[in-house]
Amino acid sequence: MGYPHKPHPKETVLLSQYFGEADARTYKGWVKRGGYESLKKALAMDPAAVTDEVKNSGLRGRGGAGFPTGLKWTFMPKEKKGPHYLCVNADESEPGTFKDREIMRWTPHALLEGTAIAAHAIRAEIAYIYIRGEFTEPWTIEGKRGNPRIKPPFPAVAGVFGKPTTINNVETLAAVPHIIKNGAEWYKKFCLSNPKSTGTKLFSVCGHVQKPGNYEVTMGFPLKDLIYEMCGGMRPGRTLKACIPGGSSVPIFDRAETESCLLDYEGVAEKGSLLGSGGVIVFDDTTDMVYQIMRLARFYAHESCAQCTQCREGTAWTTKILERILAGQGQMKDLDLLLDLADNMTGKTICVLSDSCATPVVSGIKKFKNEFEAYISGKKKPLVLA
Ligand SMILES: Cc1cc2nc3c(=O)[nH]c(=O)nc-3n(C[C@H](O)[C@H](O)[C@H](O)COP(=O)(O)O)c2cc1C
Ligand code: SF4
Repeated sequence: MGYPHKPHPKETVLLSQYFGEADARTYKGWVKRGGYESLKKALAMDPAAVTDEVKNSGLRGRGGAGFPTGLKWTFMPKEKKGPHYLCVNADESEPGTFKDREIMRWTPHALLEGTAIAAHAIRAEIAYIYIRGEFTEPWTIEGKRGNPRIKPPFPAVAGVFGKPTTINNVETLAAVPHIIKNGAEWYKKFCLSNPKSTGTKLFSVCGHVQKPGNYEVTMGFPLKDLIYEMCGGMRPGRTLKACIPGGSSVPIFDRAETESCLLDYEGVAEKGSLLGSGGVIVFDDTTDMVYQIMRLARFYAHESCAQCTQCREGTAWTTKILERILAGQGQMKDLDLLLDLADNMTGKTICVLSDSCATPVVSGIKKFKNEFEAYISGKKKPLVLA
């Protein structure tokens, strides 16, 4: 993972304040830094009051969907008939997203404190932290394969073991102790643009920038400044070509969209993409967009759990078509076929993994069609694919 950089003067370090300080990883070190004071404060409050504070702060889920966190907590049953659960989503497998692992690596107690506060708010007696199975044992919490489930019922009604469950992202929960400690009004002031997007956000920047890494900025910060100032811009002699602003599953920005975008939920949507998980993938003018889109499609084909036909067949077929275009065996009608497939893969499945595969394909063909055509017409030399 490398060592965290010294914060850039334009960063707002709230979650990443102690990144790089080995002592902050220990319980004693965390307490020395004021850790667990928010938990004490929260435990002395009524659970509903904790939820209200988080609701009023404007905190929205950092896992991708941006759903208001406090509101999500209110969906848990008011009358407690049995156990409640909190599930922390620490999966973070989307290409380009690598912020949660840094939070857990440097400030694990921030996550534990946020988790304990959230558990109190939703009156959960057990919290699970789901970490990607490939790294350790491939078990899920219930001892079954990790398959998405049809909703409804929503997790607040029937989640883990069929009981009321709240699912939250690591970064979302790590922000909670700050809100409890300093109050909703304080948190809401972290806002440079739209008042519906508050707080700070970690952006994982990778690709063709000089200084990739995690950068924490206030919501509404210009994407252009993140890329050119904080990350040191492109490599010498190179120019920006495109950018995926919110993890690999969101529409691709061209240069003009990238350079005019403000980083909050509304700012990114206004330019036609999504803030998602905040994984910013930057491409310079040397990038072969067809190849990059094929790599993403391969990832989604591999990740598909195969429950839904549109996803199981669609992700594999999309990958196959992209591979044959790159190999110089594509036809112009393949582009229509890709778009048709993408349409069938969007909004029709149990979860949005299928949509996530289709999205970069559609925006790639829309914005970089000439690159697909160059392979098909033979203007560009075919690739030998591994
Ligand atoms: C295919 C797919 C992959 C996802 N990957 C993650 C992930 O790695 N981490 C995460 O927190 N949320 C992920 N999400 C979003 C979660 O479903 C969920 O919305 C989130 O964990 C809720 O927490 P939040 O409201 O705090 O963001 C993913 C969703 C989909 C459809
Ligand atoms: S969309 Fe794909 S990953 Fe999601 S449930 Fe269906 S088959 Fe599984």
